[in-house]
Amino acid sequence: MNHTDHSADVRVPDDWFVGFHTGLVARFWRAAGATMADRDAEIVATLLDLPAGASVIDVPCADGRIALRLAAAGYAVTGIEIAKAEVEHARAVAAGAGLDATFVTGDLRALPDVGRADALVSWGNSFGYLRHADTVRSLAGMHGLLRPGGRLVLESMTVAESLLTGEIAERSETEFGGIVTRRTNRYNAAESRLETDYELSDGSGAVEHARAAHHVYTAAEVARLLAGAGFTDVCLLGEDGRTPYALGASRLIAVARAG
Ligand SMILES: C[S@@+](CC[C@H](N)C(=O)[O-])C[C@H]1O[C@@H](n2cnc3c(N)ncnc32)[C@H](O)[C@@H]1O
Repeated sequence: MNHTDHSADVRVPDDWFVGFHTGLVARFWRAAGATMADRDAEIVATLLDLPAGASVIDVPCADGRIALRLAAAGYAVTGIEIAKAEVEHARAVAAGAGLDATFVTGDLRALPDVGRADALVSWGNSFGYLRHADTVRSLAGMHGLLRPGGRLVLESMTVAESLLTGEIAERSETEFGGIVTRRTNRYNAAESRLETDYELSDGSGAVEHARAAHHVYTAAEVARLLAGAGFTDVCLLGEDGRTPYALGASRLIAVARAG
């Protein structure tokens, strides 16, 4: 666990996500993510549009909230995730429920060879974590994990037309699962990078600090990145996964085919 208190004037490191999703952060996201998991998994399954038995990769999968639901729906699922404890948690849940799901530790920057799948899902606002060169590498890696014609479903809440059309509150506070998360946000315009300092507390006196950054791309840039990685038929949808992506939508859902 490497959550330490940092001064806000020190740039959030490029590899902030290494060791981020542990402790109270992981517990907070597990509680928050659970509240929207059924709806998210339903949207994903609709967009996958694949018969039961089809193979699906979920990356990054965290505690497996989407992957486990897809496995329960009959897909052969492989989850990839950098946080070892999350991988172990997802494995334990899958084993307990007798689900056809495999979970492996892996990094978006150098995705492990888990074999080619019919579809790959990248959900939960996990796009934009990486430096640009690593984002390019990550999308190429996702393409390489799909069979020709395989489907990509990628979601982001930090695409410019979503994030920058609303107010970026300098401070905000949310609570899930008894964990209060206070955020201090800064938009680093020179790098199109949203940088956030977190303070999390669980009421027992435990307080943890963490930092994160999201690189912000326009929707057209996302489409170009996908095309550059070899994807075709790129379709940009809004929050419900049905309507076209539009200015002010709360999230972008990109669907594409591996060319
Ligand atoms: C907000 S969660 C979303 C997870 C999941 N897709 C969902 O919707 O529940 C983001 C996850 O990305 C993982 N992550 C961050 N950077 C990563 C990287 N470079 N490689 C693999 N996983 C990463 C984190 O550990 C965390 O579990």
